[in-house]
Amino acid sequence: MTPQLRINELTDLLNLYTFKYYQENESLISDQDFDLMLKELEKLESQYPDLIRSDSPTSRVGGTITKNFESVVHKYPMLSLSNTYNEQELIEWDERIQKGLNGAAYEYICEQKFDGISLSISFENGKMVRAVTRGDGAKGDDITLNVKTIKTMPLSLQKIADLPQNFEIRGEGFMPFTAFERLNSERADNGEALLANPRNAASGAFKMQDSGEVAKRGLDAYIYQFLTDEEIFKTHEESLLALRKSGFNVSETWAKVVDIQGVIDYINFWKTKRHDLPSATDGIVIKLNDYAQREDLGFTSKSPRWAISYKYKAESKSTLLKAVTFQVGRTGAITPVGELEPIELAMTTVKRATLHNADEIVRLGIKTGDYVFVEKAGEIIPKITGIDASKATLITEEIKFPTHCPACKSELYRNEGEAATFCPNVAACPPQVKGRIEHFIQRKAMNIDSLGEGKLEILYDNNQIKDATDLYSLTYERIIGLEKNHVDEATGKERKVSFKEKTVQNILEGIEKSKAQPFSKVLYSIGIRFVGENTAKNLAAYFKKIDALKSANYEELRAVPDIGERTAQSVLAYFQDEESLNYIERLRAAGLQFEAENQVEIVESNVLEGKMFLYTGTFKNYSREEIEIKIEANGGKLVSGVSKKLDFLIVGEGAGPSKLAKAEQLGVKMISEEEFDELMKVE
Ligand code: IVH
Repeated sequence: MTPQLRINELTDLLNLYTFKYYQENESLISDQDFDLMLKELEKLESQYPDLIRSDSPTSRVGGTITKNFESVVHKYPMLSLSNTYNEQELIEWDERIQKGLNGAAYEYICEQKFDGISLSISFENGKMVRAVTRGDGAKGDDITLNVKTIKTMPLSLQKIADLPQNFEIRGEGFMPFTAFERLNSERADNGEALLANPRNAASGAFKMQDSGEVAKRGLDAYIYQFLTDEEIFKTHEESLLALRKSGFNVSETWAKVVDIQGVIDYINFWKTKRHDLPSATDGIVIKLNDYAQREDLGFTSKSPRWAISYKYKAESKSTLLKAVTFQVGRTGAITPVGELEPIELAMTTVKRATLHNADEIVRLGIKTGDYVFVEKAGEIIPKITGIDASKATLITEEIKFPTHCPACKSELYRNEGEAATFCPNVAACPPQVKGRIEHFIQRKAMNIDSLGEGKLEILYDNNQIKDATDLYSLTYERIIGLEKNHVDEATGKERKVSFKEKTVQNILEGIEKSKAQPFSKVLYSIGIRFVGENTAKNLAAYFKKIDALKSANYEELRAVPDIGERTAQSVLAYFQDEESLNYIERLRAAGLQFEAENQVEIVESNVLEGKMFLYTGTFKNYSREEIEIKIEANGGKLVSGVSKKLDFLIVGEGAGPSKLAKAEQLGVKMISEEEFDELMKVE
């Protein structure tokens, strides 16, 4: 088969599998086989870049950097919707519709108002060619490469489609809650400020310059509009059904109703149910179903008359700010936290809410004793948004941001241009020390859950642990009988926790078991700044041993997938620090895993399967480690000496003469680096 035919075949098959998987919940192929086909396609594309198709599934992985997004004029302007927050206005809107239609029968389609950024996506000759942001409604930014990373977005139409070859669709790009939480937990691990809500996270991600980074953000989009020059459908309903059938991600939450009561029922149903959806919504959109009727009603200068959005009020309530406390995080960052008179918000009781940082307190002009508005940002983290001036109070007091650490009294510092204030006492400030040990025992780190619920506190307060290494020298005799009153964060109830026989056994067993945690988890646990869970996995897979990582230079670190400048610098700094090296040695002595079990985790193809390889000398495009990875990643086996069984000896610059002579004598095939590359090309 010619490369062109194979590229076409792989592109079509992979697009079909993706369509079946995401739109019809059907797996036609195993994940592993899918990855192998994708790798094969990637390799062919790198050899024959002219043959790469615009709808290639490899574009979902991203990897291209865009310096400036090109400005594109929308073929059909992107209008906005008029909106309302109350039922009465909706009823009045419905009356205007009835009047405009001279009393004719009509239907509405009700949809969720997804909370992300609007996208306009063009298809030409059945292929996705462009995705543009809303911008000012007349022109927006071309973010095609970023939108292509969305797995549910068809890059070409499947044959079953009832759609024309050229058209535009509109939809909302968003970040699902799960992806948002993952991102924020990574940011928390890295000591970075948390993103307020999924919409901000999505809008930032869609405008990133590196599409490879975008691919990792797990973005998605729901499609809610179809546009063409010729008339294809008579109703909005028909268009939604056809889009769905053709593989577009149309949310199944829409409904057809025949009057305003139906609209109100839909709103009431989704008012609480919307919290169970996988992504954020901020209201409902109501659209007239019939296109001819839409045309009769027309537009105002800004928005169509035939549609309206009903927005849920952001759940915001005012309550008394009793005090402000200052929390010290694992990274030493100081966060002001408002202590509130408890209130019910979005179905939970809120007693504390963040004030973010010193600048935010100044910006809001808040004092303790004020009534403040509290909101659940993206309905996840409660925050204080402003003063409730309608409830003036008599005694208020200025909030003073501390100059010294509330925990250890060290003088705080703030870097120029940064919002956060830090405590410098990394080694001995108790919340920082405890925070690091808490990070260490987490489920996704060393997974010592027998130490949860205040047990760590008891050990710390009784001087049994100064850092995580001390966990490994705890003994039954030393900790039996220790106790403390523990206040439950959630309920505020106090209870006595004491170490009885069973508890101690569980703790010691949990600690012992943690020694089997793989290298990647250990690497994550030690808490190098900016080394989150995924970065730790990549570093472990690449370097395999802590000693290799320790001696890696900047360039080597940057060669690891996903390691940017900031992370590379942070890793370098970590391993230059005596304290850190010492810490690692003590953990190593305790028996933790500092080497990866699986030597190779990368799979590219099986083209070298069953073949034995040895190499000698140095190569132009590979380091020793890289050529070993390449052989194994393509199914070949590495052997340690020249023998009859050896299939290929790869000969590089300065090859060892004895190896060459022996290979010659045994009739082993000798190949150059270029010939080795040839072997991996697929016919
Ligand atoms: S229809 C002519 N449907 O809300 C208006 N918009 O203010 C076409 N949105 O910019 C928009 N979910 O980003 C429509 N189901 C939905 C929507 C939706 C979210 C956003 C969209 C638009 C804004 C309207």
